[in-house]
Amino acid sequence: MTTAFTSQNPCPVVVLISGSGSNLQALIDDTQQPDAPFTIAGVISSKPEVLGLERAQKAHIPTQVISASNFSTRETYDHALLDALTVWKPALIVLAGFMRVLGNSLVEHYAGRMFNIHPSLLPKYPGLHTHERVLAASDPEHGCTVHFVIPELDAGPIVAQAKCKVRKEDDPDSLKPRVQALEHKLYPKVVRWFAEGRVSLQQGGVVLLDGTVLPKQGMQFDEDSLTR
Ligand code: GRF
Repeated sequence: MTTAFTSQNPCPVVVLISGSGSNLQALIDDTQQPDAPFTIAGVISSKPEVLGLERAQKAHIPTQVISASNFSTRETYDHALLDALTVWKPALIVLAGFMRVLGNSLVEHYAGRMFNIHPSLLPKYPGLHTHERVLAASDPEHGCTVHFVIPELDAGPIVAQAKCKVRKEDDPDSLKPRVQALEHKLYPKVVRWFAEGRVSLQQGGVVLLDGTVLPKQGMQFDEDSLTR
């Protein structure tokens, strides 16, 4: 049974970051809308002194750094992460540039309650250097994907994608901000869907939005159709 949160009773979200936190900022900005059905209960960074932590602190959101360098195995790292997450009682975990692969037991713990955003039109180009790979393949379009997290990297059931055209003069530096501009609109939208109880992960990796089974590529948006 999915809980429908409202602006009066907002969905507690914890955001995991490792860097600049521009997606975190887009989510923070959205929580400041009067109708926001979610709130950011805490931010955890796998790296100290990153801009994302400053963004959270500026918005008076509690933060914690859990540095990979302090843990010798993935299991001990994940254990510390789970302990930290549990304190904030999140209904949803949002990975936003979190540069660590999570182990199976943590991912299973939050099955159907953890999103990631990836800068490609999955299943194309999981992993790193997506802009370079799109250009090397001469793809006519590029974009970003929000998906539920499963143990396999960048492979979880897709909720939504937003696309942009690749121009012939593009290089990685020109593509990146266009894809990020899409991310900053798409992620808050999908987090709202979850908070409002509109989107859920069902048995067999099926994603339901408003009671309808989504296609494998999820809901599709482009630069024009992607409003807030
Ligand atoms: C984003 O491009 C996201 O797709 C990827 O990592 C980047 C994070 O950027 N997973 P930021 O820290 O949100 O600015």
